[in-house]
Amino acid sequence: MKLVKLIANLGYGSRKEVTAMFREGRITNAQGEVLYTDDQVTHDQIRIDDEPLDPPSGLLIMLHKPIGYTCSTKDQGELIYDLLPPRFRLRSPIVANVGRLDRETSGLLLLTDDGVLLHRISSPKHKLAKVYEVTLARDMKGNEAVLFASGTLMLESEKEPLAPAQLTVINSRQARIIVTEGRYHQVRRMFAAVGNHVETLHRSQIGGLTLGDLLVAEWRILNDADRLKLFEQRLM
Ligand code: URA
Repeated sequence: MKLVKLIANLGYGSRKEVTAMFREGRITNAQGEVLYTDDQVTHDQIRIDDEPLDPPSGLLIMLHKPIGYTCSTKDQGELIYDLLPPRFRLRSPIVANVGRLDRETSGLLLLTDDGVLLHRISSPKHKLAKVYEVTLARDMKGNEAVLFASGTLMLESEKEPLAPAQLTVINSRQARIIVTEGRYHQVRRMFAAVGNHVETLHRSQIGGLTLGDLLVAEWRILNDADRLKLFEQRLM
């Protein structure tokens, strides 16, 4: 790929703006030698204002989403993209969130610019476990685990029953639930369907991947070992 396109696709500016950056001598190699638009150099060799380039496409990012942030590029209020470098919003292909967490849900959110990977993580066909920690407004009745595991629970205005989900009761108002789908407000609606109300919701795990020591509002780029972990745990 031509250098101008490569750099523009990473969100540094339009092709016109990036061409101007070349003219101004702001784009160099690792030795500080000025690069020209037709030069052949690898991604890791490029510097802009002496800084290495952002990572190439194929990014997979883990964000510890705080409560109060919306999974959108252009909504009112605080957005998950406000927590990432501003250039990430301008990349092509775009860095998109893999499924959504509600504004009032916290926890592990993945973002990627790889469409195939996005589908592999979010498609219910792949049965990748999504683990949520739930606190409830009312005591559980005792039949929730059996109903959620049955594969027959119908949510209001849906045509297909939910796939089986695994509920672990921690105490009468606290539970862990593992689902493989990502339907709209799914966990909140599951508990509404059994006459309860979710007070707090936190996603702690996707596949075999947990937040580890990532603090609220922090993010990091996932490496090959993380990717292996991600796909190592499915709900059968
Ligand atoms: N289920 C929900 O209800 N909300 C989320 O944010 C995620 C799963």
